[in-house]
Amino acid sequence: MSLHKQVRKVTTHVLNAMKLRGEKIAMLTAYDYTLAGILDKAKIDAILVGDSASNVMSGHETTIPITLNEMIYHASAVVRAVSRALVIVDLPFGTYQGNSKEALFSAIRIMKETGAHAVKMEGGREILESVERILSAGIPVMGHLGLMPQSIHKFGTYIVRATDENEAKKLLEDAQILENAGCFGIVLEKVPASLAKKVAKERKIPIIGIGAGPDVDGQILVLHDMLGLTQEFSPRFLRRYHNLNQEILGSVSSYIEDVRSHDFPNKNEQY
Ligand code: KIV
Repeated sequence: MSLHKQVRKVTTHVLNAMKLRGEKIAMLTAYDYTLAGILDKAKIDAILVGDSASNVMSGHETTIPITLNEMIYHASAVVRAVSRALVIVDLPFGTYQGNSKEALFSAIRIMKETGAHAVKMEGGREILESVERILSAGIPVMGHLGLMPQSIHKFGTYIVRATDENEAKKLLEDAQILENAGCFGIVLEKVPASLAKKVAKERKIPIIGIGAGPDVDGQILVLHDMLGLTQEFSPRFLRRYHNLNQEILGSVSSYIEDVRSHDFPNKNEQY
């Protein structure tokens, strides 16, 4: 029987065992109690409280403005809804790049104040000291390579990363550095499928792709994008499973019409 059918609680060890058995890992983002509860009920393997909350929940253009306090708010709501999935929380920009002591302090706040199970950080060699210090405190760390939205002003664009030899070589090295340091997995965002396949083959830890093709150990999407709640974001890798934006618009328009026409509330909808 598949491992994901047997386990009552997904841990980082379960994700590693899934990779060993060749079982694909399904991940989505969530930022609130209600949607996180639905994902957990559907038996998603892991939930990322992504700093994409900065765009999706707060309307910022980038992930840079979101604060540690805001991430803690979102993560604690998600954790309250979840009994099975592994909950991973993004360390936001500016809370771990400066020095490893500050990084550890940020990660400890997330673990203590939210009850989440792990943190995720963007970067390779440059953030190694912070990664190691957090791991040494017993906090599981997931890496994030390829397109790293917290570095958007360095990249200048959201195009596919590591298409040239030098960047691809650095990415392969960074993946090895993160695995050697003790990270339990790596998110690989928007890189050529052939490179992602090589990373997943070379590494023992699960490689979770977003825009990284099919030959990785699992996939993650931003929930609001795959449900069609967000409309303006339409990269090639995104599969939309619904058009909730239109559905909600229709429902809200019907409600407004019902109120204005005195149809709502009717005799059965009052005391
Ligand atoms: O913040 C986020 O949602 C992410 C995913 C895109 C992987 O990092």
